[in-house]
Amino acid sequence: MNNFTYDISTVVHFGKGQIEKLGAEVAKRSGRVLMVYGGGSVKRNGVYDGAAAQLKAHGVAWVELSGVEPNPRINTVREGVRLCREEKLDGVLALGGGSVIDCAKGIAAGALYDGDPWDFPAGKAAPEQALPIFTVLTMAATGSEMDSIAVISNMDSHEKEAFSAPCCLPAVSILDPAYTCSLPASQTAAGTADIMSHTLENYFSPIETNYLADNMAEAILRACVHYGPKAIDTPDDYEARANLMWCASWAINGFLSMGKPVGWSVHRMEHELSAFYDVTHGVGLAILTPNWMRYVLSEQTEARFARYGEAVWDLDRSLPQREKAEAAIQKTRDFFSALGLPATLTEVGIDGTHFAEMARKARTANFDRTFVPLSTEDILEIYKMSL
Ligand code: NZQ
Ligand code: ZN
Repeated sequence: MNNFTYDISTVVHFGKGQIEKLGAEVAKRSGRVLMVYGGGSVKRNGVYDGAAAQLKAHGVAWVELSGVEPNPRINTVREGVRLCREEKLDGVLALGGGSVIDCAKGIAAGALYDGDPWDFPAGKAAPEQALPIFTVLTMAATGSEMDSIAVISNMDSHEKEAFSAPCCLPAVSILDPAYTCSLPASQTAAGTADIMSHTLENYFSPIETNYLADNMAEAILRACVHYGPKAIDTPDDYEARANLMWCASWAINGFLSMGKPVGWSVHRMEHELSAFYDVTHGVGLAILTPNWMRYVLSEQTEARFARYGEAVWDLDRSLPQREKAEAAIQKTRDFFSALGLPATLTEVGIDGTHFAEMARKARTANFDRTFVPLSTEDILEIYKMSL
């Protein structure tokens, strides 16, 4: 196992009714916050009312920024930064899923940065300080509630880029699984695919040196396979929602990648789909992942896929290794389909028009360090396989 430093300072209050802790937590750190939310789901499921009551009860004033888009836009981040400065705010409270939380992170860092916040995703500057970030999570998917990453889109230039900085770790996250019961089945499915993809990106790493992380990854994948369909069939199944929510946080909070080299492949390819076509992140991942698996399967990699098949899909140990590997990939595809997720880019209205440009943009130096290094041509081929 390689050396590492693990420092996740986010305070997590997990479970039913934990929003009761929000007011006191915010008041410890901020007196006037920007309350950020999306298209209105938080007004329908009680999250907005619960948060507002908490702020009032603890004497925290707030200004609101609503309408954060799925795949949050840089212009919304800029608007939040403007509000923080004009209204002299000293904290950012996100109510929603990953898009709202990522937007809040961009705002919190942008408010203390003397420049355009697009500099962060563009890689021109790294955030060094940020206003305290508070989150009330409403969707199990991205893990943004417990990581330091934000993904922001600029639709004018077809760019969707991530940045990460320790100051962007939320100070406090309220994780009440009951808030996710109002999710439509399609978002529950997309979220489950996203959790699985984060886990798989960490699991399929260039070397296998972390027994603990590998077993933990398999446990998270099994939990998704077990509880994803339950949450879709019975939306208010609390155990299912709770397991998915905690899996989401642990799939990407750094634990699974500690002590081993990890280079993410499918996410980078998906971000180009969203940048050009604004597709739902988890949907893009569900389409690309099995095709990426098929493409990188070889004599060198089949043992890893076979292990994945045994551990996650309960495949018969006595099957020949290659057969097991192929069956594991097919199980992955079948599972996403059973969740109701599309299998092809054509189904979501994407054709090959921009593939060459998307592959060129997706191919960063990161692909030299992935499970199987990929060239621009390889990425292009995976897009074509996904049509
Ligand atoms: O906008 P509202 O009305 O809130 O509706 C949202 C949105 O339409 C709805 N929703 C969320 N919670 C709900 C709900 N509807 C009913 N009941 C609830 N409880 O769901 C829709 C999608 O929400 P969104 O926040 O976009 O989903 P998600 O959490 O999947 O976030 C996706 C974004 O996060 C980025 C993605 O690229 C994408 O931009 N990612 C962020 C990461 C990170 N910060 O670490 C890593 C990920 O890999 C990912 O890239
Ligand atoms: Zn993701």
